[in-house]
Amino acid sequence: MPAGAVLPNAATSSPLAGGSPVAGGSPVAGGSSLLGLAADNPFFQAGFGLLGVGVVMGLARSGSIWAATVLRRRMLVSLEIDNRDRAYEWFLGWMAHRTNTSGASTSRATPWIRSHELSVETMIERRPNGSSSVFFQLVAGPGTHWFKYKGAWMQAKRERETRSMMGGQQTGISVPWETVTLTTLSRDRALFPQLLSEARDLGMRGQEGKLVIHTAWGIEWRPFGKPRRKRPLKSVVLEPGLSERIEQDIKAFLARRQWYADRGIPYRRGYLLHGPPGSGKTSFIQALAGSLSYDICLLNLSERGLADDKLNHLLSNVPERSFVLIEDVDAAFNKRMQTTADGFQSSVTFSGFLNALDGVASGEERIVFMTTNHVEKLDPALIRPGRVDFSSLIDNASPLQARQLFRQFYGGSMNTDVSASELEGLAQELHDILQQKLKSGQKVSMAALQGHFIRNQAAKVAVLNLVDLFGT
Ligand SMILES: Nc1ncnc2c1ncn2[C@@H]1O[C@H](COP(=O)(O)OP(=O)(O)O)[C@@H](O)[C@H]1O
Ligand SMILES: [Mg+2]
Repeated sequence: MPAGAVLPNAATSSPLAGGSPVAGGSPVAGGSSLLGLAADNPFFQAGFGLLGVGVVMGLARSGSIWAATVLRRRMLVSLEIDNRDRAYEWFLGWMAHRTNTSGASTSRATPWIRSHELSVETMIERRPNGSSSVFFQLVAGPGTHWFKYKGAWMQAKRERETRSMMGGQQTGISVPWETVTLTTLSRDRALFPQLLSEARDLGMRGQEGKLVIHTAWGIEWRPFGKPRRKRPLKSVVLEPGLSERIEQDIKAFLARRQWYADRGIPYRRGYLLHGPPGSGKTSFIQALAGSLSYDICLLNLSERGLADDKLNHLLSNVPERSFVLIEDVDAAFNKRMQTTADGFQSSVTFSGFLNALDGVASGEERIVFMTTNHVEKLDPALIRPGRVDFSSLIDNASPLQARQLFRQFYGGSMNTDVSASELEGLAQELHDILQQKLKSGQKVSMAALQGHFIRNQAAKVAVLNLVDLFGT
């Protein structure tokens, strides 16, 4: 009974298939003469045999897909992280950390096997003394990686897709879209939050006590370079009391969020620091940001390709706890008018800039710092309250500033070739020389003084050679 050979298989398969038509079942059950005839024919038998095998395989395949789906739904959990999320960098950094430390640590550390796809990330580390070194970090490249975390196997799938990100259409800039999908067994799902917070801690550890500078990258803000060491606020010597005044102002602002909200006033504050180059404007803003644990978002208005809409987007999507710093705010618009002939086209318009500064009324905190060397060139519309609430001149070195900077350079235990009282005498001497020079209209910048002090290691020589700074 050859046809029967088909039957048991079909019958065993059918419960799995549920409602789907079972082709192998009907011929035998029907038992019509035509089929009976066919069943006797060896060719038809072979045909039925093949049909049966095909059906069984088909059922088995759909069954196994179905089973796999059920398994995945019931037993696996996935977590998707995309590259707009900060966790994305943290996770890649965490993976890299695991691979990079594996060689050094004990044999137990088998961080991930089967990682043939690696990407390289070049890091430049700047040391406090100014030197720098480059090293490469291998991060998980696009592809699938397996690793074990706290005893649980996990799969990390990094995928890259070139499609425009949100807002891409308006700006015409497409940013690769990337995701990492983590998959593990359901019972280990509690490990995801643990893993992510471990990654975050690792990611943040590198920035702790550091100043992060972001720059515009397409339409989003990205950290620029490695986090820098914070500069003590005291190391930037301004006119007596000025540094404290600005600090007080910003602290008062930060304490009044609710006050602004209650009155429906946009929660923002603008600062303008103006004065000659090398007077400490940029240094001060960076030191201030550091002292308040704020980041800096550096905005370059004359950057190629920056248009009004993009500027608007950037200004309304500033990362939390950041100052927006716009340097040489006068240059952006003047240069555009002067150099259109040679093809330079900055497409930020002055009115577009003002609109972006005003922004849509929102509860979001925004602190903008602007600097310029030529305050007189600024349009009065920019300096009006609401856009610039605090404006201050940061000038060339005053005698008092010079004296203070001198003390900071040569004072302390580092310097032993002069006594404390001698040093104070020299500081006063320097003060008097500067005062005299100022009377005759000769000025020197703080940056020039700093350079002079660096060149002259001995305090006495520095004062003696001070004339170097004033030409004849
Ligand atoms: N008031 C200051 N106190 C201490 N250092 C200063 C001061 N002004 C300038 N410098 C030094 O001069 C250099 C240039 O200063 P920077 O902040 O870039 O000036 P600006 O932004 O006003 O042009 C920095 O290395 C900084 O340390
Ligand atoms: Mg500057």
